[in-house]
Amino acid sequence: MIKIFDRVTTIFIKEILIRKNMSNSIYDKNNVQLFNGDCLEILQQIKPNSVNMIFADPPYFLSNGGITCKAGKMVSVNKGKWDKSNGHEEDFKFTKRWLKACRRVLHDNGTIWISGTHHNIYKVGFALEQLGYDILNEIVWFKPNGPPNLACRYFAHSHETVLWARKSKKSKHTFNYKLMKNWDVNGDKINNQGKQMRSVWSITLTPLKEKENGKHPTQKPLELLKRIIASSTKKGDLVLDPFNGSGTTGVAARSLGRRYVGIEKEKKFLDITVNRLNSNS
Ligand SMILES: C[S@@+](CC[C@H](N)C(=O)[O-])C[C@H]1O[C@@H](n2cnc3c(N)ncnc32)[C@H](O)[C@@H]1O
Repeated sequence: MIKIFDRVTTIFIKEILIRKNMSNSIYDKNNVQLFNGDCLEILQQIKPNSVNMIFADPPYFLSNGGITCKAGKMVSVNKGKWDKSNGHEEDFKFTKRWLKACRRVLHDNGTIWISGTHHNIYKVGFALEQLGYDILNEIVWFKPNGPPNLACRYFAHSHETVLWARKSKKSKHTFNYKLMKNWDVNGDKINNQGKQMRSVWSITLTPLKEKENGKHPTQKPLELLKRIIASSTKKGDLVLDPFNGSGTTGVAARSLGRRYVGIEKEKKFLDITVNRLNSNS
């Protein structure tokens, strides 16, 4: 079994593709490959069982006319057309389709991480169970500097949920326990270096210095992705993100010596990704 795993981790990225010269490949350098297009279509072009870990930050379906607070101002929640809900049934169908497509490309010992809020995460959890994944952890990403709630009619939203699941109960998944125990938790008031890492992570909102290469409305902090990748993969492993956005997963993966495949529908976000890769931020 170890031999098969080793072979999977040493192949070149191009070798995971069913068609090697895919026209929607827009970047292929230093073990990072970016594709412009719909993940449902591009995932079909990737060989089964070829990816060690997937991180997905999908549409949360929350851009539906609500309000939020940004830089002290009241603004409408509008992340983009891609984030609008099409109703519960359609949203669930979409969630299940991409999770199924991810499961096909995931190695039998691989794991998947999915972020969300109450708008999408219950659909994700139900779909994961229906598809045969086995949920390992529910991480709470606590945002100590999250925005206040302007309506003052409910609690201020100050966390996101990140589900971590393996492909099936039989999977021999990677968990770098000692690395996480000794992780430099600088600034995380919930975890202490030298003690078991808990399932609640306190990480501040994406710092401005990580946004110097262009703006994405839902860019994740690098620290979140570094913890996720470092905890659940080995050096040389292949990490895939079907909702690449501004490429936080790719920047973190490359900095940790992992190979990366990113898929993104909007070219302008891939342009930001390339800038980020070029400047390592
Ligand atoms: C929540 S954002 C990801 C942000 C990313 N984690 C980051 O740190 O920048 C989701 C992204 O998925 C893209 N997207 C939405 N539907 C897609 C699809 N079917 N295929 C590929 N990309 C899609 C959107 O354009 C958006 O950039």
